[in-house]
Amino acid sequence: MPNSVARFFLPFFLVAGSLANSTLPVYTDGAGHPVYSPYDYQRVGARGPLLLQDFHLIDLLAHFDRERIPERVVHAKGSGAHGYFEVTRDISNLTMAVPFSEGVGTKVPLTMRFSTVAGEAGSADTNRDPRGFAIKMRTSQGIWDWVFNNTPVFFLRDPTKFPLFIHSQKRDPQTNLRSPTNQWDYWSQNQESVHQVMILFSNRGTPHSWAQMHGWSGHTYKFVSASGSWHYVKIKVISQQGIDNFNADEAKVMAANNTDYHTEELRNRITAGNFPTWKVAIQLMTPEQGQKYKYDVNDLTKVWPEDEFPLLEVGKIVLNKNPENWFAEIEQLAFSPANMPPGFEPSNDPVLQARLFAYSDAARHRLGPNHLEIPINCPMAVNNFQRAGWMRIDGGAGTLPPSAPNYPSSFASPVTYVRRPYDLSDIADPVVGPATVKSSYHLSRKDFEQPNVLYNKEFTEVERQSLVSNVVAALNTVTIQTVKQRSVDMFTCVDTTLGHKIGMGVSIKPSSPLSCGDQ
Ligand code: HEM
Repeated sequence: MPNSVARFFLPFFLVAGSLANSTLPVYTDGAGHPVYSPYDYQRVGARGPLLLQDFHLIDLLAHFDRERIPERVVHAKGSGAHGYFEVTRDISNLTMAVPFSEGVGTKVPLTMRFSTVAGEAGSADTNRDPRGFAIKMRTSQGIWDWVFNNTPVFFLRDPTKFPLFIHSQKRDPQTNLRSPTNQWDYWSQNQESVHQVMILFSNRGTPHSWAQMHGWSGHTYKFVSASGSWHYVKIKVISQQGIDNFNADEAKVMAANNTDYHTEELRNRITAGNFPTWKVAIQLMTPEQGQKYKYDVNDLTKVWPEDEFPLLEVGKIVLNKNPENWFAEIEQLAFSPANMPPGFEPSNDPVLQARLFAYSDAARHRLGPNHLEIPINCPMAVNNFQRAGWMRIDGGAGTLPPSAPNYPSSFASPVTYVRRPYDLSDIADPVVGPATVKSSYHLSRKDFEQPNVLYNKEFTEVERQSLVSNVVAALNTVTIQTVKQRSVDMFTCVDTTLGHKIGMGVSIKPSSPLSCGDQ
């Protein structure tokens, strides 16, 4: 046997040889060399120094030193599970998006990840926060990510605000402490956030379990049919376990007793065969309805009331498998709202448009340029001209052979090209006017209308009371008087009784006259 061949095969023979007495695989270092004991290391004499030649020890240390990847800049704490999405209604007249166009009963595999937003990777699951509700579906036409939250609205409608808003919610750069003063300073200066703030400070901000929450797209998207007709659409994922929330005290006790309560609860639920299920429903608007709607259809701080735009049930989700390797199947997940199949299109919502960029950008930082090759993110089929880069592991471009040309060759093209049946110009909203710099929408009285309905018509009495007591408790930790005053005024703009109750709790009277945005 030539030397090179011997070197290549020797470990195999050693491994195979030592396997003779055991059915278990032989322990090796990272390069596959058999090592007698994981605790062995090479040193001189009984008390001498270590040897640099000890690859096993150095490989062990070096790998350990690199075992952490950056945590998500937001939504760092979370977990999830696997399951499937099933089409339950034929809506192929509304969208050509798979799996809907593949018929009732079509199932696609999916992975869901639930998360809190502001805390770090080790923070408590039951802290007051919105919850991320992200779904990765592996369709026959690529990945379809629903990167949703457990609330129908969001704190802002201007993309530039997101990083600055998040700075106000996470740790202060000077003290490294989270600061209620910073949080309420931001919210009370940006009062279009009040709708989401009210949901957050009701008991809905402390859900009992991930299975007992709904998920919402929040944003408006577009459904486009094969004939090119289109609708605005919002998606709601409805828990079949019902909704249940902790109150503030229960959530705090649970945070102290079991940091990972939601992670454990979901795992136990699935292990017991008690598979969580959600129904998927859509709300639709025609382009004409969208133009006439009293609010901007692209305003993420507004809902479409369900009595005006009824829910149409179209599918169901079941989670039935726990991850076997949390890092590979959950931490390495990379969702992006830009991952959507033909027939589903983004609206002009500026926050959504910004997100179409931000997530893949974050994934390139967190996981590398080839993050779509990581098995949990990898689509069913990829055939393109991308090669190389950090951690490229497939050699070729997805399912193409490594020898396939990496450009559209005229003589050896490895792919055919499929045009989608509609053109972007067919589904464009009418856009008029020159390019402008728009720092933010003006706050208007209309911004307080839906929060008023939420408080008076949708919240139960318990939710109204919990909102008041939770806001009062938080505002009483705010150290700057003007921030408290602006916050009391903000709730007074929503409803005078609400403002009065919160004002009483923090010993502040609402301003008079009160300014609630433009008319
Ligand atoms: C996670 C950016 C608004 C839902 C993230 C991440 C970034 C980000 C950078 C971490 C991604 C990663 O490391 O993999 C933004 C920006 C926004 C925005 C720039 C606005 C301009 C929203 C909104 C929603 C949302 C409106 C919900 C409707 C989520 C969820 C995750 C997440 C669920 C966690 C995904 C996971 O489980 O991996 N966001 N976000 N975000 N975001 Fe956003």
